[in-house]
Formats: sequence, C-alpha cells, structure tokens
Amino acid sequence: MVKIDKIVLPEFPLLLAPMEDVSDPPFRAVCKDNGADLMYTEFISSEGLIRDAIKSRQKLDIFDYERPIGIQIFGGDEESLALAAKIVDVTNPDMLDINFGCPVKKVAGKGAGAGVLKDIDLMVRLTDAVVKATRLPVTVKTRLGWDENSKNIEEVAERLQDVGIKALSIHGRTRSQMYKGEADWTLIANVKNNPRIHMPIFGNGDIDSPQKALEYKNRYGVDGIMIGRAAIGYPWIFREIKHYVKTGELMDPPTVDERVEVCRKHLRKSLEWKGPIVGINEMRRHYANYLKGLPGIKEYRNRLVVLKTMEEVEAVLDEVQENYAGYVIERNPIVLENYHQHCPL
Ligand SMILES: Cc1cc2nc3c(=O)[nH]c(=O)nc-3n(C[C@H](O)[C@H](O)[C@H](O)COP(=O)(O)O)c2cc1C
Repeated sequence: MVKIDKIVLPEFPLLLAPMEDVSDPPFRAVCKDNGADLMYTEFISSEGLIRDAIKSRQKLDIFDYERPIGIQIFGGDEESLALAAKIVDVTNPDMLDINFGCPVKKVAGKGAGAGVLKDIDLMVRLTDAVVKATRLPVTVKTRLGWDENSKNIEEVAERLQDVGIKALSIHGRTRSQMYKGEADWTLIANVKNNPRIHMPIFGNGDIDSPQKALEYKNRYGVDGIMIGRAAIGYPWIFREIKHYVKTGELMDPPTVDERVEVCRKHLRKSLEWKGPIVGINEMRRHYANYLKGLPGIKEYRNRLVVLKTMEEVEAVLDEVQENYAGYVIERNPIVLENYHQHCPL
C-alpha cells in the first residue's frame, strides 16, 4: 500500500491527472467508477480564489464519493498561495496539490508562475508558505525542469520534501518540450531511487495502455502512475491497467452497453453540476469519444450534438444501445493528443 500522510492508497495506485476543462466532477465520477484511486481537480488560480471569481470557486466543488481527492492550486506569490490554501482548507479535500510552472498569462505577466521552474528557491518558498498555511497534506505536481539544460527535478524533490510535501507527481518532460517528444521517465526513476526520498513518487507522461503501464511500473519502480490524456473519453483505462497488472491479461474492451451507460452517467452528472444548458452543451464534445469504433456512429453523433434536452439525448442513446446490441468494438490504440494551448504541466 502507498501512504500520503495518513491517506492510504492501494498498492500501485492509479491517479487521474488534473486537467483544465476536463477533470471536472462529471468526468471524475466516471473515472472513479472505473478504478481511479486518487483524483485531482482542474488547477485553480490562487488569485481567482482570493478575488472570489465564480469559475475558480466552482472548481472547489468536491463530493464524498470522490475521496480521496486533491484540490490543485497555482500561483506566483507566497501570500496569495497561502491565502488560497486557507480557502481550500474550508472545503475539506483530502489533500492540496500545487501546480508549478504553468505559463498562464495572468501569472507569468507578473514575473512569476512560469518562471518558478527556473527558480528552485522561489519554488521552495512558495511550497513552504502553502505547507504552513494549511492543515492538509500538500503534494506537488511538476515537470523535469524548465528546459534541456535545467532538469533539476532531483534537487527539487529533495528540497520540497524537506519543507514538508507528502507526495510528488512528475511529468517526464521539461516545460520547453510542451508535449513534444516522448516523456522520459529515467529522471523520475532517479528521484524514486534516491535513498533520501521517502514520500511517494508518481510517474506521469504518455501512459496509453495497460502494457505500457506495467512495463513502466517494472522499469522505473514508481509508487504509482498518473494518467491524463488516455482517460479522456476512455475512463476504462484505469480498470484495464489494474486488471493487467494483477493478471497479466488484457480485459475485454467495454461493451456497447457499458459505453452508453457511462455516457449517460457523464451526461447526468454534467447537467446536475453545470445546469441544463451548459451541461448539455459541454457534453457535446464527449459523444464521439464514448461511441468511437461503432460503424456509422457519425450520424448519431451529428444528431446528439444539436439536441437541447436530456430526454432527447437519452432517446438517441437508447437507439444506439438497441441498434448496436451485442456489437463488439475492436480494441484500438489510444491516441494521445497534443494540447499545446493548455497548461503544459
Ligand atoms: C487538457 C489538459 C489540461 C491540463 N491541465 C492541467 C492542470 O490543470 N494542472 C496540471 O497540473 N496539469 C495539467 N495538464 C497536464 C496533465 O496533468 C499531465 O501532466 C499531462 O497531460 C501528461 O500526462 P498524459 O501523457 O497522461 O496526458 C493538462 C493536460 C491536458 C491534456
């Protein structure tokens, strides 16, 4: 088993990565159902929280069935991060995660934020301020370093542990790489193998299949794996990895019924949380993913994306279930998209 402070996770836990505009409560609900052991919210601006911006506040919504869950914040100065940490405290998540190095204009424009990865002293000061401000266990998510010449993650890990963080998730790329090339897990393994490090180290970057997850588990010895893009539209990745790690065998891919049921749940949660209009609109980008691989599905998708009520969508989903009953969808490799316009952490 793996422990983050007092939180007990199963052996080799699978984490859902924080993803802006993706890892909201409806998406988290379906990932949780399918085996995510620890989840994080989308990143939340500390400045936004302090200003009481509606969007930032809304991202604080967490539900008991999601536990253990971490709320992720970012920001560029000690005072606002510490204040934000106190606001997060009140919402009572299981942990507080700090995202380092996201080049959001608002933050980077003030000379902080993106620069944090270049300035370990600043990173340590910011972390220290958060640890001191909150009663929650603090975790950090970051990259290997700023660029090819400053891969400082080994020093970063030691120093952040020294100021009290309880776990570290590392995306095996530098900030300059964005999503280019392949994630390099060798430095993640170095951090894990450092005898001074006693907190859990979670590897992140490019896991897109059960086979790769097991291979990386064995090769790099990390305590667990964090999965981002592969879960988008395919929350079954968690249960498939778990099954493969346990048995060495691939699970059958989800049936049509399972796909439609997960889509329905995502839809229901989306409406509950976002309201009937935004809920329906934002669900539109998910149908293609959930129904991928069914022949002729384009026609259904085209109908789904213009519907305006849950009842209408449910009726089309009923049709899909009826018309494709028993159809076996082939297992297709998951394609990891580049999201350069988003936070590259
Ligand atoms: C759409 C999108 C949004 C992201 N938003 C965040 C975020 O809010 N906070 C964060 O720490 N990382 C964010 N990331 C980075 C992911 O958490 C993860 O580190 C990265 O995608 C690599 O993992 P993967 O190869 O499994 O996708 C985001 C990634 C994507 C694709």
